Amino acid sequence: MKQFKDTAVLVTGGAGFIGSNLVEKLLVEGAHVSCLDNFATGHRHNITPFLSNSNFTLIEADIRDLNSCRNACEGKKIVFHQAALGSVPRSIHDPITSNEVNISGFLNMLVASRDAGVKRFIYAASSSTYGDSESLPKIEENIGRPLSPYAVTKFVNELYADVFARTYGFESIGLRYFNVFGQKQDPNGAYAAVIPKWVMQFIKHESPLINGAGEFSRDFTYIDNVIQANLLAASTENKNALNQVYNVAYGDRTTLNLLAEWLRETLSTYDTDIAQVEILHGPYRTGDIPHSLASIDKARNLLGYNPQFDLKKGLVEACKWYWDHLRD
Ligand SMILES: NC(=O)c1ccc[n+]([C@@H]2O[C@H](COP(=O)([O-])OP(=O)(O)OC[C@H]3O[C@@H](n4cnc5c(N)ncnc54)[C@H](O)[C@@H]3O)[C@@H](O)[C@H]2O)c1
Repeated sequence: MKQFKDTAVLVTGGAGFIGSNLVEKLLVEGAHVSCLDNFATGHRHNITPFLSNSNFTLIEADIRDLNSCRNACEGKKIVFHQAALGSVPRSIHDPITSNEVNISGFLNMLVASRDAGVKRFIYAASSSTYGDSESLPKIEENIGRPLSPYAVTKFVNELYADVFARTYGFESIGLRYFNVFGQKQDPNGAYAAVIPKWVMQFIKHESPLINGAGEFSRDFTYIDNVIQANLLAASTENKNALNQVYNVAYGDRTTLNLLAEWLRETLSTYDTDIAQVEILHGPYRTGDIPHSLASIDKARNLLGYNPQFDLKKGLVEACKWYWDHLRD
């Protein structure tokens, strides 16, 4: 039987990268899925395929509006809260809007979910919460000081979720995503993430620019691993697993130099000229931490998380998708 058959769920940010992938999977699992989004950074084309599905409802609204949150939460069993303004640089340029969406909007969603009797609230937390902590691998209990307004907002989310658990007995699980990539991630705009940005540059035979010497490393996480973690968090019956935050990553780190080389290699199988595209290096970017690597032991032990896609396997899938969908 399908895992979420006839379960009423709400995905906020469902027109975004992670949210739209989550909506797709939940529909396959038989859920009745409502998607709340204001299209600030998400796209209609991400949800177009779902519009003809009778189990899908689009709610075009803003999480900064409490009444919209209340209406969206009515009758829902599970909320997957993905809506936020991502990107560290965006939050540095405009901390007020990031605060309003990521903190006030989050609080609206918590209050609305609590009052609507939502059973479980799964939310997108972030590896940015580790801030200036240099210890590797990152372990959930051991965080540093935030390095950006965005990191502050994501940490405050965790604090609010924790307080709601203790004050109102409201069930939540936070998932600290590490550098997620995969189909539907936006390659355009000033705040695009590195993988889709470089993929599109290689496809156009433009040189990607690495900030610094390229020896910095990240725990790049393919989208399917993130979807798996969300579904496990939504369905776990392990009481000890509730009201916790978890690293969601693959549990390995790769340098930016290697990432650029692997992307060039993978995309060269579609267009041999890409093999000649040069990879450039520029100055270091302020605020970038040198290395990021997650311990995924907690998610493995308490949720049964078992990521199936390492970076290379995920890159093959992602490159194929960009090649098929976004070449023109
Ligand atoms: N992509 C990553 O690597 C990563 C890493 C850590 C955490 N996260 C978190 O995961 C979540 C999803 O990120 P994503 O990469 O899919 O980003 P995204 O920008 O593709 O998706 C965010 C979605 O939220 C919507 N949204 C923004 N403001 C809104 C508002 N006021 N009201 C309603 N909807 C609003 C956007 O339109 C968009 O569809 C975010 O909370 C983000 O902070 C992402």
